Amino acid sequence: MSVDVRRDGRVALITINRPEALNALSSAILDELLEELTAMKRDAEIGAVVLTGAGEKAFIAGADIHEMSTKTALEAREYAELGQEVAHTLETMRKATIAAVNGYALGGGCELALACDIRLASDRAVFGQPEINLGIMPGWGGTQRLARTTSLGFAKEMILTGRNVPAAEAYERGLVQAVLSPEELVGKALEMAALIAAKSPVAVAYCKDSTNRALHGDIGANLVHEADLFSILFTTEDAKEGLGAFTEKRKPQFVGR
Ligand code: COA
Repeated sequence: MSVDVRRDGRVALITINRPEALNALSSAILDELLEELTAMKRDAEIGAVVLTGAGEKAFIAGADIHEMSTKTALEAREYAELGQEVAHTLETMRKATIAAVNGYALGGGCELALACDIRLASDRAVFGQPEINLGIMPGWGGTQRLARTTSLGFAKEMILTGRNVPAAEAYERGLVQAVLSPEELVGKALEMAALIAAKSPVAVAYCKDSTNRALHGDIGANLVHEADLFSILFTTEDAKEGLGAFTEKRKPQFVGR
């Protein structure tokens, strides 16, 4: 198995485990990752997911270049769609997704990190969209999410030059939320995941859904949607519990309804 899953309470840790190829994502690994994420998406016992890579060198060094080198255009299309489905699942599942970027996050690795809600990096992390150096281009959402996460100019610079961006610069550009030592990275990511997983799952899902719209569509419609979700939350037991617990000066116990 190339995708390891560890559960601790309401947090799942997914580790891409192919360190001998710097955790490059073959279609077989992508299939396995999608299967795990789809199961987690439906599992009410999971509140947050952390994604990382095995070994000390890489988070994910991208799509599998050896596999891609023999693909036809039709097969390349299927590969792009599969990677995009994985990215879409990370971005839209009703629970938090956190990338713990422990090393190279290149090509598809950078793209999957971008699809996560939050990115934490080790000081050894390196980001890049080097597809241009292979005569191809990003195909798992990089041309869209990188610009939305950083800026159009910086995204174009990364994508057109294919240059590597170290963790400190990624932080300056807003590509990651924090830079940590390699020793503390996964622990901090799991801690943040546990913090979010302890909150009302309905509220987490709605916060994510509404915030995901911030860079898309019309702000007027998005604000109406926000108010709709805000009001729906007042029908939940969790909102009664959270608001009541504050008044009663106690810790809330959320049930996900
Ligand atoms: N696909 C398939 N295999 C990959 C890979 C990828 N994206 N990235 C690394 N590997 C494999 C290498 O082929 C090598 O395997 P081998 O030992 O059987 O030859 C192994 O991982 C180690 O990589 P290597 O290049 O020897 O390590 P390095 O430390 O010298 O260089 C990188 C590290 C990340 C700079 C280099 O591996 C690289 O440029 N990888 C490709 C990154 C990329 O272009 N990703 C986007 C793909 S669209």
